[in-house]
Amino acid sequence: MTSTNLLVQKCICSFCGRSQEPHEKFYTNGHARMMLAKHVDYVRICPECTGLALTGVLSPMALFVDPSTHKQTPESIEGYLSRTVVGQDDAKRMLAIAAWQHMHRRSLPEARRSHLPKNNVLIIGPTGTGKTLMLETLAQLLDVPMVTFDTSTVTKAGYVGAKAEQCVYNLIAAAGSLEKAEFGIIHLDEVDKIRRMRGLDGDVGGEAAQQSFLKILEGMTLLVERMNKESKVEKVPFSTKNILFVATGAFPDLYEKHSQAGRSSAIGFTADYTKGSGPVLTEVTSEQLTAFGMISEFTRRLPSIALMQPLAVADLANIIRLSTHSPVEQYSQMLATMGVETEWCSDFIEEVARRAHAKHLGASGIASVLEHSFRDLLFTLPGLVHRHGGKLKLTFTAEFLDDGKPHIDTGTATASGDVHT
Ligand SMILES: Nc1ncnc2c1ncn2[C@@H]1O[C@H](COP(=O)(O)OP(=O)(O)O)[C@@H](O)[C@H]1O
Ligand SMILES: [Mg+2]
Repeated sequence: MTSTNLLVQKCICSFCGRSQEPHEKFYTNGHARMMLAKHVDYVRICPECTGLALTGVLSPMALFVDPSTHKQTPESIEGYLSRTVVGQDDAKRMLAIAAWQHMHRRSLPEARRSHLPKNNVLIIGPTGTGKTLMLETLAQLLDVPMVTFDTSTVTKAGYVGAKAEQCVYNLIAAAGSLEKAEFGIIHLDEVDKIRRMRGLDGDVGGEAAQQSFLKILEGMTLLVERMNKESKVEKVPFSTKNILFVATGAFPDLYEKHSQAGRSSAIGFTADYTKGSGPVLTEVTSEQLTAFGMISEFTRRLPSIALMQPLAVADLANIIRLSTHSPVEQYSQMLATMGVETEWCSDFIEEVARRAHAKHLGASGIASVLEHSFRDLLFTLPGLVHRHGGKLKLTFTAEFLDDGKPHIDTGTATASGDVHT
């Protein structure tokens, strides 16, 4: 058999050399041909290399892809997360390792996967510190489907409410196929709200909800309905054993108890602003989680624990300056589409960070501080751009947060901007 025949029969990706799996589609250009040593064959590309190629063309993300293997590494995953998630280094590393293990398992033949333990993750951190952002960024990089499921909606048998299995059905619906869903990510949010707690009626709430997730987290087979080729509904088995589960929660008591112990520090690099960051948690033991109200069977199925830290004023300022997802960056980009250049002064950034911090919403406070001032500006600015017909430059100082008026440079004269004129 010639090597040409081998390529045709085994269907190998021309870029990374890996063979096609039965459930996969490799893209082939039927017309383009390439020279491979002594023979000619079609060019084929696997889904991963398609993703990498697109990424390289469409965004500077290619910087974070290891070119020698065309595969992600924990370091490249952490590097990619850092583009949007500022600080939270320990949590990013922990998640990067779990994500790499997940993708590594996927790349192995089924028989060898059983040797690798399932590595579900628990992320503990105050609200607005980047838990959801980190997971969304991860799912985007790995190109796997992800759904967020509010576990506090799960009720015990006999009561009206969601069933734990619903998170799996949601993932399948989001993925569009059982094959894609198999290695997806399920984000189990608000798990601290299903803590074991004795209610006024003496009933123990939460525990039943935690128990209903045990088998799913470990790997169970559900029967799911799908249309067959004859458009008839059929029930097929679907296993949760390869899904990556990431549970998240604020676990306020853990931080408060720690705070009473009087420890405090912050991420970021401006030492002046570290005051008021709140307590930093460096370790959480299984005993602390049990005391909080999580049953040990539940936490045992989430062996990797990542801790997010409260955000100090300096951290919020860093998010505004550095994150590609910061609301300021989003306003910049939106104004740029109108031909408006922007400059954000340090006093503006620091004042936004201070006001956001006072709202106790983590980084979610940034958007809410800006929203009010921008509402007026966005009402009048399109008209001004239209009337002016040329390039405008807006400079934002701290005063903008009170009067809603940036400094406007029309290129001809510089005026402290009243955009209503
Ligand atoms: N560490 C962070 N780095 C960059 N942006 C952040 C960070 N934490 C939060 N944000 C911003 O705040 C918003 C809310 O964060 P989110 O991830 O939903 O918080 P959580 O899930 O921890 O409650 C995000 O959309 C993001 O813009
Ligand atoms: Mg969240």
